[in-house]
Amino acid sequence: MKTIIEPFKVKVVEPIKMTTRQDREHYLRDASYNLFLLHAENVIIDLLTDSGTAAMSAAQWSALMRGDESYAGSRSFYRFEAVVRDIFGFQQVIPMHQGRAAERILFSVMCRKGSVVPNNTHFDTTRANVEYVGAEAVDLPIPEFYQPAVNHPFKGNMDTEALEHLIKRVGPERIPLVMVTVTNNSGGGQPVSMANIREVRAICSRYGVPLYLDACRFAENAYFIKLREAGYAGKSVKEIAREMFALADGCTMSAKKDGLANIGGFLCTNDDQLAQQEKDLLILTEGFPTYGGLAGRDLEAIAVGLEEVLHEDYLQYRFASIRYLGEHIARAGVPIVQPPGGHAIYIDARAMLPHITPLEYPGQALAIELYREAGIRSCEIGTVMHAERDTNTGEEIPARMDLVRLAIPHRVYTQSHIDYVVEAILAVYERRESIGGYRIISQPKFLRHFTAQFGPVNPPTEIVGLKSNHRNQVFLRD
Ligand SMILES: Cc1ncc(COP(=O)(O)O)c(C=O)c1O
Repeated sequence: MKTIIEPFKVKVVEPIKMTTRQDREHYLRDASYNLFLLHAENVIIDLLTDSGTAAMSAAQWSALMRGDESYAGSRSFYRFEAVVRDIFGFQQVIPMHQGRAAERILFSVMCRKGSVVPNNTHFDTTRANVEYVGAEAVDLPIPEFYQPAVNHPFKGNMDTEALEHLIKRVGPERIPLVMVTVTNNSGGGQPVSMANIREVRAICSRYGVPLYLDACRFAENAYFIKLREAGYAGKSVKEIAREMFALADGCTMSAKKDGLANIGGFLCTNDDQLAQQEKDLLILTEGFPTYGGLAGRDLEAIAVGLEEVLHEDYLQYRFASIRYLGEHIARAGVPIVQPPGGHAIYIDARAMLPHITPLEYPGQALAIELYREAGIRSCEIGTVMHAERDTNTGEEIPARMDLVRLAIPHRVYTQSHIDYVVEAILAVYERRESIGGYRIISQPKFLRHFTAQFGPVNPPTEIVGLKSNHRNQVFLRD
């Protein structure tokens, strides 16, 4: 059969509240044009993230009932530990409430002020946690990574020449670890090849620096390797995943992605001494090392999810569905990051809206427009999220790219939902020249994209309840 179907049946449904364009205009203003501040019930199709949004399977829901909620040494922990060891292969498995908790503990223990952490590309919380301990986070992707239209089978790869150059320049003693993020989320959900991980491993070994994987989307990365890298077509995704982890000294993991769970994560290492320090810190902020901030039932759901995500029928369907979305909009002219990623399609908003300068946030403008058009929530990954500041003038420096990510939650939406998304994007694309930019009205010091307030640069006169002052700054009326 040519048609690839969802390899699951629906047992429980969650109704979607349908809204009108007028309703959405009102919700947008109430949320200060920040889609993170919308009430989720006012979103028709929620593509904000694939993190923690998966639909759990019947097997996961049944496993919840097995949850052993003992404070220490629960059966659920040992079941979870056995599954993680089986796939990831590390000796020490430390549960965490989510990925960023693993990052905070890892960097607090391994880094200090003046340390340098190279990564193919740091995810935003990873970068924030590195910087929080006074270390420097350095992104070293291959040059193709910053060219959205360029096709490359492993666009998530690390630039190994740049890595070696950095190690020589700052000295290995300042580099407590190297990280490789699989898949590389920040610019397209692009995979890293086994050959690249192997090369990074060789460099790390040469300089005595440990290698960690940010393993959030390990199964998707392994499936890309199976599809695209010579010599892997005949191997199972699980075998490929094991080979990836065998090259590393440890990993951080958010089970909210490829753990198919709604919460959870873990930190792994083969270094017992390091693990002891990490567990000491864990007790301080997360909980006892056999639950790490999670309920016993969460550990059960993760243990089942980690096995299910390796099912190749599932991965084949997921990739086909995401590719379908990408190909249908790209064929009509919408610029997307090529090739389509493992968990998301990324629209190149800077290319689609060239009349909006990066400091008027084309990604934010496009994300707002998709919501206005059809109630679709997406996520800006661009200047709002990743701008830097000139250290002399304090002026904002645009990010390298302005993208809008349409992340597809695991097992939640069907083909007709995807068709609806295609139709909405094409409608917005048709009227792209009429879309205006945005400015920031207020923002916090860290991770501003979550809570910043925005206003249109040129508010249309029909927007009631908004006024602007002589500098064209827009603010809400009381
Ligand atoms: C690559 C990557 N690393 C780390 C994280 C952080 O995980 P969490 O949201 O569970 O804290 C994310 C979350 O999206 C991610 O995509």
